[in-house]
Amino acid sequence: MNQIKSYIAEHQERFLTELIDLLKIPSISADKAYKKDVLKTADAIKDSLEKVGCDTVEISKTEGYPIVYAQKIIDKNLPTILVYGHYDVQPPDPINLWDSPPFEPVIKKTDKHPDGAIFARGACDDKGQMYMHVKAMEFMTATNQLPCNVKFMIEGEEEVGSANLATFVKNNTEKLKNDVILISDTGMIANDVPSITTGLRGLSYVEVEVTGPNRDLHSGLYGGAVANPINILTKMIASLHDENNHISIPGFYDNVEELSQQERAEMAKAPFNLDTYKKALDINAVYGEAGYTTNERNSIRPTLDVNGIWGGYTGEGAKTVIASKAYAKISMRLVPNQDWQNITKLFKTHFENIAPPGVTVKVTPHHGGQGYVTPIDSVGYKAASKAYQDTFGKTPIPQRSGGSIPIVALFEQELKSKTILMGFGLDSDAIHSPNEHFGVWNYLKGIETIPLFYKYFTELSK
Ligand code: BES
Ligand code: MN
Ligand code: MN
Repeated sequence: MNQIKSYIAEHQERFLTELIDLLKIPSISADKAYKKDVLKTADAIKDSLEKVGCDTVEISKTEGYPIVYAQKIIDKNLPTILVYGHYDVQPPDPINLWDSPPFEPVIKKTDKHPDGAIFARGACDDKGQMYMHVKAMEFMTATNQLPCNVKFMIEGEEEVGSANLATFVKNNTEKLKNDVILISDTGMIANDVPSITTGLRGLSYVEVEVTGPNRDLHSGLYGGAVANPINILTKMIASLHDENNHISIPGFYDNVEELSQQERAEMAKAPFNLDTYKKALDINAVYGEAGYTTNERNSIRPTLDVNGIWGGYTGEGAKTVIASKAYAKISMRLVPNQDWQNITKLFKTHFENIAPPGVTVKVTPHHGGQGYVTPIDSVGYKAASKAYQDTFGKTPIPQRSGGSIPIVALFEQELKSKTILMGFGLDSDAIHSPNEHFGVWNYLKGIETIPLFYKYFTELSK
């Protein structure tokens, strides 16, 4: 691949301006108030794919937000890469914790990003990372170096569970046929420690409701004599972990794969400093399942976390009350062999079973998905590894991530191809949090590395 560096140097200002323009549109899929903006973003992605030389560019309507599909087929005998990404973003809340407005992107220097980082919701997850692929495509078509066929599938509902994408994939297996799926929607260890994500956790997300008396009660007149749903709910939640922080739901660990000592030793080689980790989060100790390291706890082990809890009086001052209801949202991160629907069932049965007399419990499943592991001896992994070797000057480390992209397991099931997760974000980029950002260096490095993946994948597929 000739001239990548010079092409990027020549066009980088425009590459940044285009991304900044995209980040200005608040494509929040979770909030219906932003529907127009989400749709506008899909149009903008469509235009950008047309501009970089895709032949077919379509906006496919779904029951929710549309999927932008594009392709360029240069020769049926050459391999086909399917690029997936998402143009929707998380809500920016809590908005008052942002140093600059979430949809008015600014570039600022940080410790981790001395060349500057773009601060905006979606900068890293996933507009910035998705757009690297559009600009990499621009480079390959503008310089006549596209080595294989390419398909793009960019959705607008990843942050809300990809329900309509699943249907789209099942109904279009022929159209989406490919030799490898390429995604940049994960992270890497550090800018000088490149890594390729080889695993994603699965997810089961549920909401629980505990109901006590039929109305809110005076806590003096009734307190002590009836079950308080908030007291009960917190007690039930506390019982979901034992003293070793193992999850106490019967059957929860049945299909959890135990890694061999050798695999764990391999994992432990990835650079990690516990003090730096604690400092970055302002915590005086880490916390988690006994017998596992921090990096194991957040990647190869399943977890259960309360994401939100509410009920009763939370306004100003004090109100003496026993609430009729208490609620919580609970997520379970799963490892590849755990079936998320089965885990949801186990949770529901257990949570209903542990409810004491005096309350009733309702468990409502939200969404979920299977975990994923990708082998490191596939053509795709080897091609990615060679590409990083060229642009970072180092062999990337395979690393399992704790995050989830539930649709990836379905891709493999329906399209029978492996996914390569080439993520360029850092854990400190604050995705889903206030002040999300994406390093300018990372953005350009991605644009530089992606065409090399195309090249090596095509060569190694012969
Ligand atoms: N891009 C993230 C997932 C991710 C981030 C994986 C970093 C690995 C490293 C994705 O957009 C996301 O946020 N996924 C959700 C699940 C989804 C169903 C809402 C998640 O992991 O919470
Ligand atoms: Mn994402
Ligand atoms: Mn996300």
